[in-house]
Amino acid sequence: MLGIVSTLVLIALGVYIVSTFGLFPIGADNPPFGLERYLAGRAMNAYVDRNAPEGTNPVAVTPANLADGAKEYEEHCAFCHGGAAAKISPMQRKFSPGAPQLTNRIPRDSESWLYWVTKHGVRMTGMPAWDGVLSDDDMWKIVAFIKNSDKLPPDVAATWKAMASRKEADEAPALEPVEAAPAPAPAAR
Ligand code: HEC
Repeated sequence: MLGIVSTLVLIALGVYIVSTFGLFPIGADNPPFGLERYLAGRAMNAYVDRNAPEGTNPVAVTPANLADGAKEYEEHCAFCHGGAAAKISPMQRKFSPGAPQLTNRIPRDSESWLYWVTKHGVRMTGMPAWDGVLSDDDMWKIVAFIKNSDKLPPDVAATWKAMASRKEADEAPALEPVEAAPAPAPAAR
């Protein structure tokens, strides 16, 4: 009995010390620890298995739908997950855990699993919830595109590849500041 209580007190003390004295490496450039990775991965898989919708992708695998999926993917996902411009995104290891490169190594998870993760995101990682930003239809199209990205019909593959160069041109204006920021006050330290 005393053993159990003192063990619990020691664990609580350890957590307190690590969090209070700045000993936990909070930067996104620190990969998760083995146990952290294991427990979080297990919890994520179990939760998504339990909550993902039943059945398969309601969107038909047609060239038009795949091309739509490619366009939405390039616009919203390729920056972190790699795409036409770079199959391995330079951002891959800039998150903790890192971002899987979805068109370089296509996930084996079911389409409804991938759809659920896209819609709801993964808390405390860089993966956002796209619910309300993208329509359900677009998310299903993106998932169909990811799953078929290694066997696209030639014209869709060409359309996708062409998005690599177009993207840079599209993105250039976004680098302009929206409005001039007020001059910063002189630094106090
Ligand atoms: C800002 C970066 C970022 C953007 C943008 C982003 N993701 Fe993610 N995504 C991540 C990170 C980081 C993970 C890893 C999370 C984890 O390991 O739990 C992830 C994980 C995933 C996973 C789980 C893959 C697996 O096998 O575990 C899917 C599916 C996914 N993202 C789909 C998408 C889709 C689709 C889009 C675009 C609509 C998107 N993501 C946009 C960062 C991003």
